[in-house]
Amino acid sequence: MSQQSLISQVVTDLPPSGIREFFDLVATQSDVISLGVGEPDFPTPWKICDAAVEALRHGLTSYTSNYGLLQLREAIAQDIHHRYQVEYSPDNQILITAGVSEGMDLAMRAVLDPGDEVIIHEPCYVSYKPCVALAGGVPVVVATSAEHDFKLQPDAVQAAITARTRALVLSYPNNPTGATMTRSELTEVARIADKHDLLVIADEIYNQLTYEGRPTCFASLPQMKQRTLLLNGFSKAYAMTGWRVGYACGPATIIKAMMRIHSYTALCSSALAQYGALEALENCEAEMAEMIAQYDQRRRLFVAGLNDIGLPCFEPKGAFYAFPSIQHTGLSASEFCRALLMEEKVAAIPGPAFGECGAGHIRCTYATHIDQLKQALERMERFIAKLASDELSAQVKSVLAATRG
Ligand SMILES: Cc1ncc(COP(=O)(O)O)c(C=O)c1O
Repeated sequence: MSQQSLISQVVTDLPPSGIREFFDLVATQSDVISLGVGEPDFPTPWKICDAAVEALRHGLTSYTSNYGLLQLREAIAQDIHHRYQVEYSPDNQILITAGVSEGMDLAMRAVLDPGDEVIIHEPCYVSYKPCVALAGGVPVVVATSAEHDFKLQPDAVQAAITARTRALVLSYPNNPTGATMTRSELTEVARIADKHDLLVIADEIYNQLTYEGRPTCFASLPQMKQRTLLLNGFSKAYAMTGWRVGYACGPATIIKAMMRIHSYTALCSSALAQYGALEALENCEAEMAEMIAQYDQRRRLFVAGLNDIGLPCFEPKGAFYAFPSIQHTGLSASEFCRALLMEEKVAAIPGPAFGECGAGHIRCTYATHIDQLKQALERMERFIAKLASDELSAQVKSVLAATRG
């Protein structure tokens, strides 16, 4: 029996992550400025670490309830009510998960039957399509474009709906584009969800990282709470990616179904991490605000810099990514990133890693120290000049020639 035949067809068919593939390449280089990783460069605020250490000292190391620590669920309910005036019951409408990632997986497994379709707008975070496929569903992609500031167009959603459409994943502020949608734009999407009885799975992990205008919680739109599953977490806003705490809020029936799967698989998110998350919500608003102010400063500098060096960049209004166009260089996004890495040691991610319609763009994370960003801009400017004057190194030219066959 071949080892490969032990692997299920669904898993065999999953494409490798375009991000991972690129990082394998980055690992072969030294002195690289990485604009590749989608996570805060700040350490977790010390108060949060301290709370987890205290929990450890007090022996709070057992399983928590499958729903998660009640105190944390209460704090989440309060936080959401304070920010968006939406009420969730800590008793049965909130589930603590191992990040939004687990929340997304549980959501798909809880609501999909084989063949059910889920609409996903691209470019988007890389896990949505695999989660749908692993749950036996069928992802249906709706493309967004720079022409519409990467906002989801209601007509495109409407056109993608079939008798099998069960849910829509909504992901704003968006990774990789930094696009946001206004309350009135989201209301148009809400109308369609209502008309076609769709569940909306709203990944709002970057909601706190919104720099212009106020973020909208999709569940706060009229009649949307009963058909929205809100996913959020602590990874980005509190610089807690490795802690693995997130949450899902929604109708009790869906939360209970997700909890049932979670109770057989993860059981609960790490107890210590949940105590850390509780501290984050109760006492770390100022630390979060300081990180957000710094991201905003970097955003302005970096996006202006990209435009100045001739990489036209749509203005991101949330998250911590810039998604400039490289189309005019004549290189594909993958060729551009490979050549930039080899020639000037700057790592960015090719746009198609987030969906085919990301072609012609690259994703650069500005959750990177401002001095590094300035240096990256200098290197990128030099790269573009060399590209324009055909002065790239012989090695890079031969790699490019090889990729072009
Ligand atoms: C849009 C989006 N959703 C979810 C995640 C994963 O979040 P978590 O760490 O909470 O699993 C990411 C991480 O980059 C993301 O960009």
